[in-house]
Amino acid sequence: MSKITAAITAIGGFVPETRLTNHDLEKLVDTNDEWITSRTGIKERRIQNEPGKATSDMAVEAVNELLKKRGIKAEEIDLLIIGTITGDLVFPSCANIVCDKIGAINAWGFDLAAACSGFLYALETGAKFIETGKHQKVVVCGFDKMSAIIDYTDRNTCIIFGDGGGAVLLEPNTEGFGIIDSILKSDGSGREFLHQKAGGSLKPPTHQTIDAREHYVYQEGKSVFKFATTNMADVSTEIMKRNNLKAEDINYLLAHQANKRIIDYTAEKMNLPSEKVLMNIEKYGNTTSGTLPLLFWDFETKFKKGDNLILATFGGGFTWGSIYIKWAYNS
Ligand code: COA
Repeated sequence: MSKITAAITAIGGFVPETRLTNHDLEKLVDTNDEWITSRTGIKERRIQNEPGKATSDMAVEAVNELLKKRGIKAEEIDLLIIGTITGDLVFPSCANIVCDKIGAINAWGFDLAAACSGFLYALETGAKFIETGKHQKVVVCGFDKMSAIIDYTDRNTCIIFGDGGGAVLLEPNTEGFGIIDSILKSDGSGREFLHQKAGGSLKPPTHQTIDAREHYVYQEGKSVFKFATTNMADVSTEIMKRNNLKAEDINYLLAHQANKRIIDYTAEKMNLPSEKVLMNIEKYGNTTSGTLPLLFWDFETKFKKGDNLILATFGGGFTWGSIYIKWAYNS
């Protein structure tokens, strides 16, 4: 029997309507458009500010789009995984809620928390259920509503993050297309530089933690930047080397959209020209687990069957990794 690989066969995405531009942020904190654009590449982000709407509502839109495009029903989904750190509730999982809302009555599912590497980790996990023959249809989502945990009085973080994400369908392939190789890494000692201080079991929320604004993202940007550039570049060049891929063999790099300078550094180490480096950071900012699926969503029409794609991420934890995909279809 030929080897089963997990191939992406459909894509969906969603970003909320409301735009938060750099000029809007100038009214909230001491910053300016020129500083944000030159330091990060971000011009605006999307914010889900409709009352009663949460991460699951964005994921529902994307999964429904994907099902329609592939011409299948929610009942056919075997497993649904969501990379997220901003699920609707502490429990149950956002995946449980999404399955209920879309009518995926035959699916099981769970959330996977790996901050900005959430989608990459979830893609690797979902692929294993396809490769082993256990499942035929696995939906992998990456979504975050970062505006729920961002302090809009903190200029170190509020300029970076936005809301949104996307979903992909994984199905078995026996012709050598799909996920070919992966390298996943983590180093929990990096947690001191990027975390949320309160709201977990270490420090359950109290009036004091709220007053101290500890329910928001805390980040030491310079340290995160240093680790992100080195680690994302290292893991991307490592996956190229062990698959004998030269820059000319790679069609596109889909790198986590945290900072344009981090992406440029990774691309430079891989010797990739700018036309092979996909970017949409200017319009969405850093959507945490959402960035990679949003790249798939925005640039799907560029991909041709047989294209070599390299995914790369770095995020809180620290977590990071790279996945090599041989694209499975012409859209
Ligand atoms: N607007 C204007 N000035 C700002 C500012 C803002 N939003 N934020 C910080 N500054 C100031 C600082 O106070 C500092 O001033 P000083 O020199 O007088 O002390 C100066 O700008 C430089 O700050 P610094 O933090 O060194 O800037 P930086 O070049 O490291 O850029 C980040 C800051 C956050 C954009 C950058 O560190 C970064 O992108 N880090 C990684 C973040 C990331 O990827 N997070 C997600 C993890 S995946």
